[in-house]
Amino acid sequence: MLSLIHLAFLALAFFSASTPSVHGRELWLERNNRAIHLHPRRFGQNHPAVLEKLRAACGGGVCAKLAGAAVTPLLAKQGECTQQDMADQIINTSKQFNGTTQAAMLAIAIEYRQTEKNTPPDFKTKPETFRNSVFCQTAPKNPELNGLVQAQDPANDPNVFFDPAMGESVQLGAQANTRPFDDGAAGNSTGSA
Ligand SMILES: *[C@@H]1O[C@H](CO)[C@@H](O)[C@H](O)[C@H]1NC(C)=O
Ligand SMILES: *[C@@H]1O[C@H](CO)[C@@H](O)[C@H](O)[C@H]1NC(C)=O
Ligand SMILES: *[C@@H]1O[C@H](CO)[C@@H](O)[C@H](O)[C@H]1NC(C)=O
Repeated sequence: MLSLIHLAFLALAFFSASTPSVHGRELWLERNNRAIHLHPRRFGQNHPAVLEKLRAACGGGVCAKLAGAAVTPLLAKQGECTQQDMADQIINTSKQFNGTTQAAMLAIAIEYRQTEKNTPPDFKTKPETFRNSVFCQTAPKNPELNGLVQAQDPANDPNVFFDPAMGESVQLGAQANTRPFDDGAAGNSTGSA
């Protein structure tokens, strides 16, 4: 409950900020599944812009609610598919609006799916190890999201991932989710029969 209130507060603070580029990325910084202000290692990034776009994309409070819900899936301890599920939900929700709005929301869902997710640095190493986020291992519900994955910070150690299911580091190749889900065979009717 506390963390929900905390997140709601941060979301509110974020959405009321008119200078998103400097403070936006702080929204993603968190520990123990709670957003906190910590270690803004890529200060200039402006990922929250996609949430501002989402909030403005449709009326009736629908997109405002979606944008509020879209923060949590990007926190480090969230499951590996929560971001993809949220992108699917954005597309599903768009179906009630006209074609223009649907197209805008689809573009936002695609951008959101490719937004970087939080990963906590491993402070047990010296210097600390910046880790990648693991990849969802199921296909998205909407084919427009096929093959899309979250961005990874190029400053990360390319061989080390943070797995929220275990709460610890995983080496590249040690588990399937250290590589993007291969939906080529299942989702491509022109491929193998
Ligand atoms: C989106 O709609 C599809 C098709 O109706 C459904 O299978 C899926 O569960 C929905 N996903 C979300 C996140 O609502
Ligand atoms: C679609 O809906 C939006 C929001 O209600 C409206 O501004 C726009 O004019 C609509 N476009 C069309 C082509 O109907
Ligand atoms: C489907 O598979 C074919 C043959 O492997 C490939 O050329 C094509 O790019 C694939 N399409 C998609 C959407 O993955």
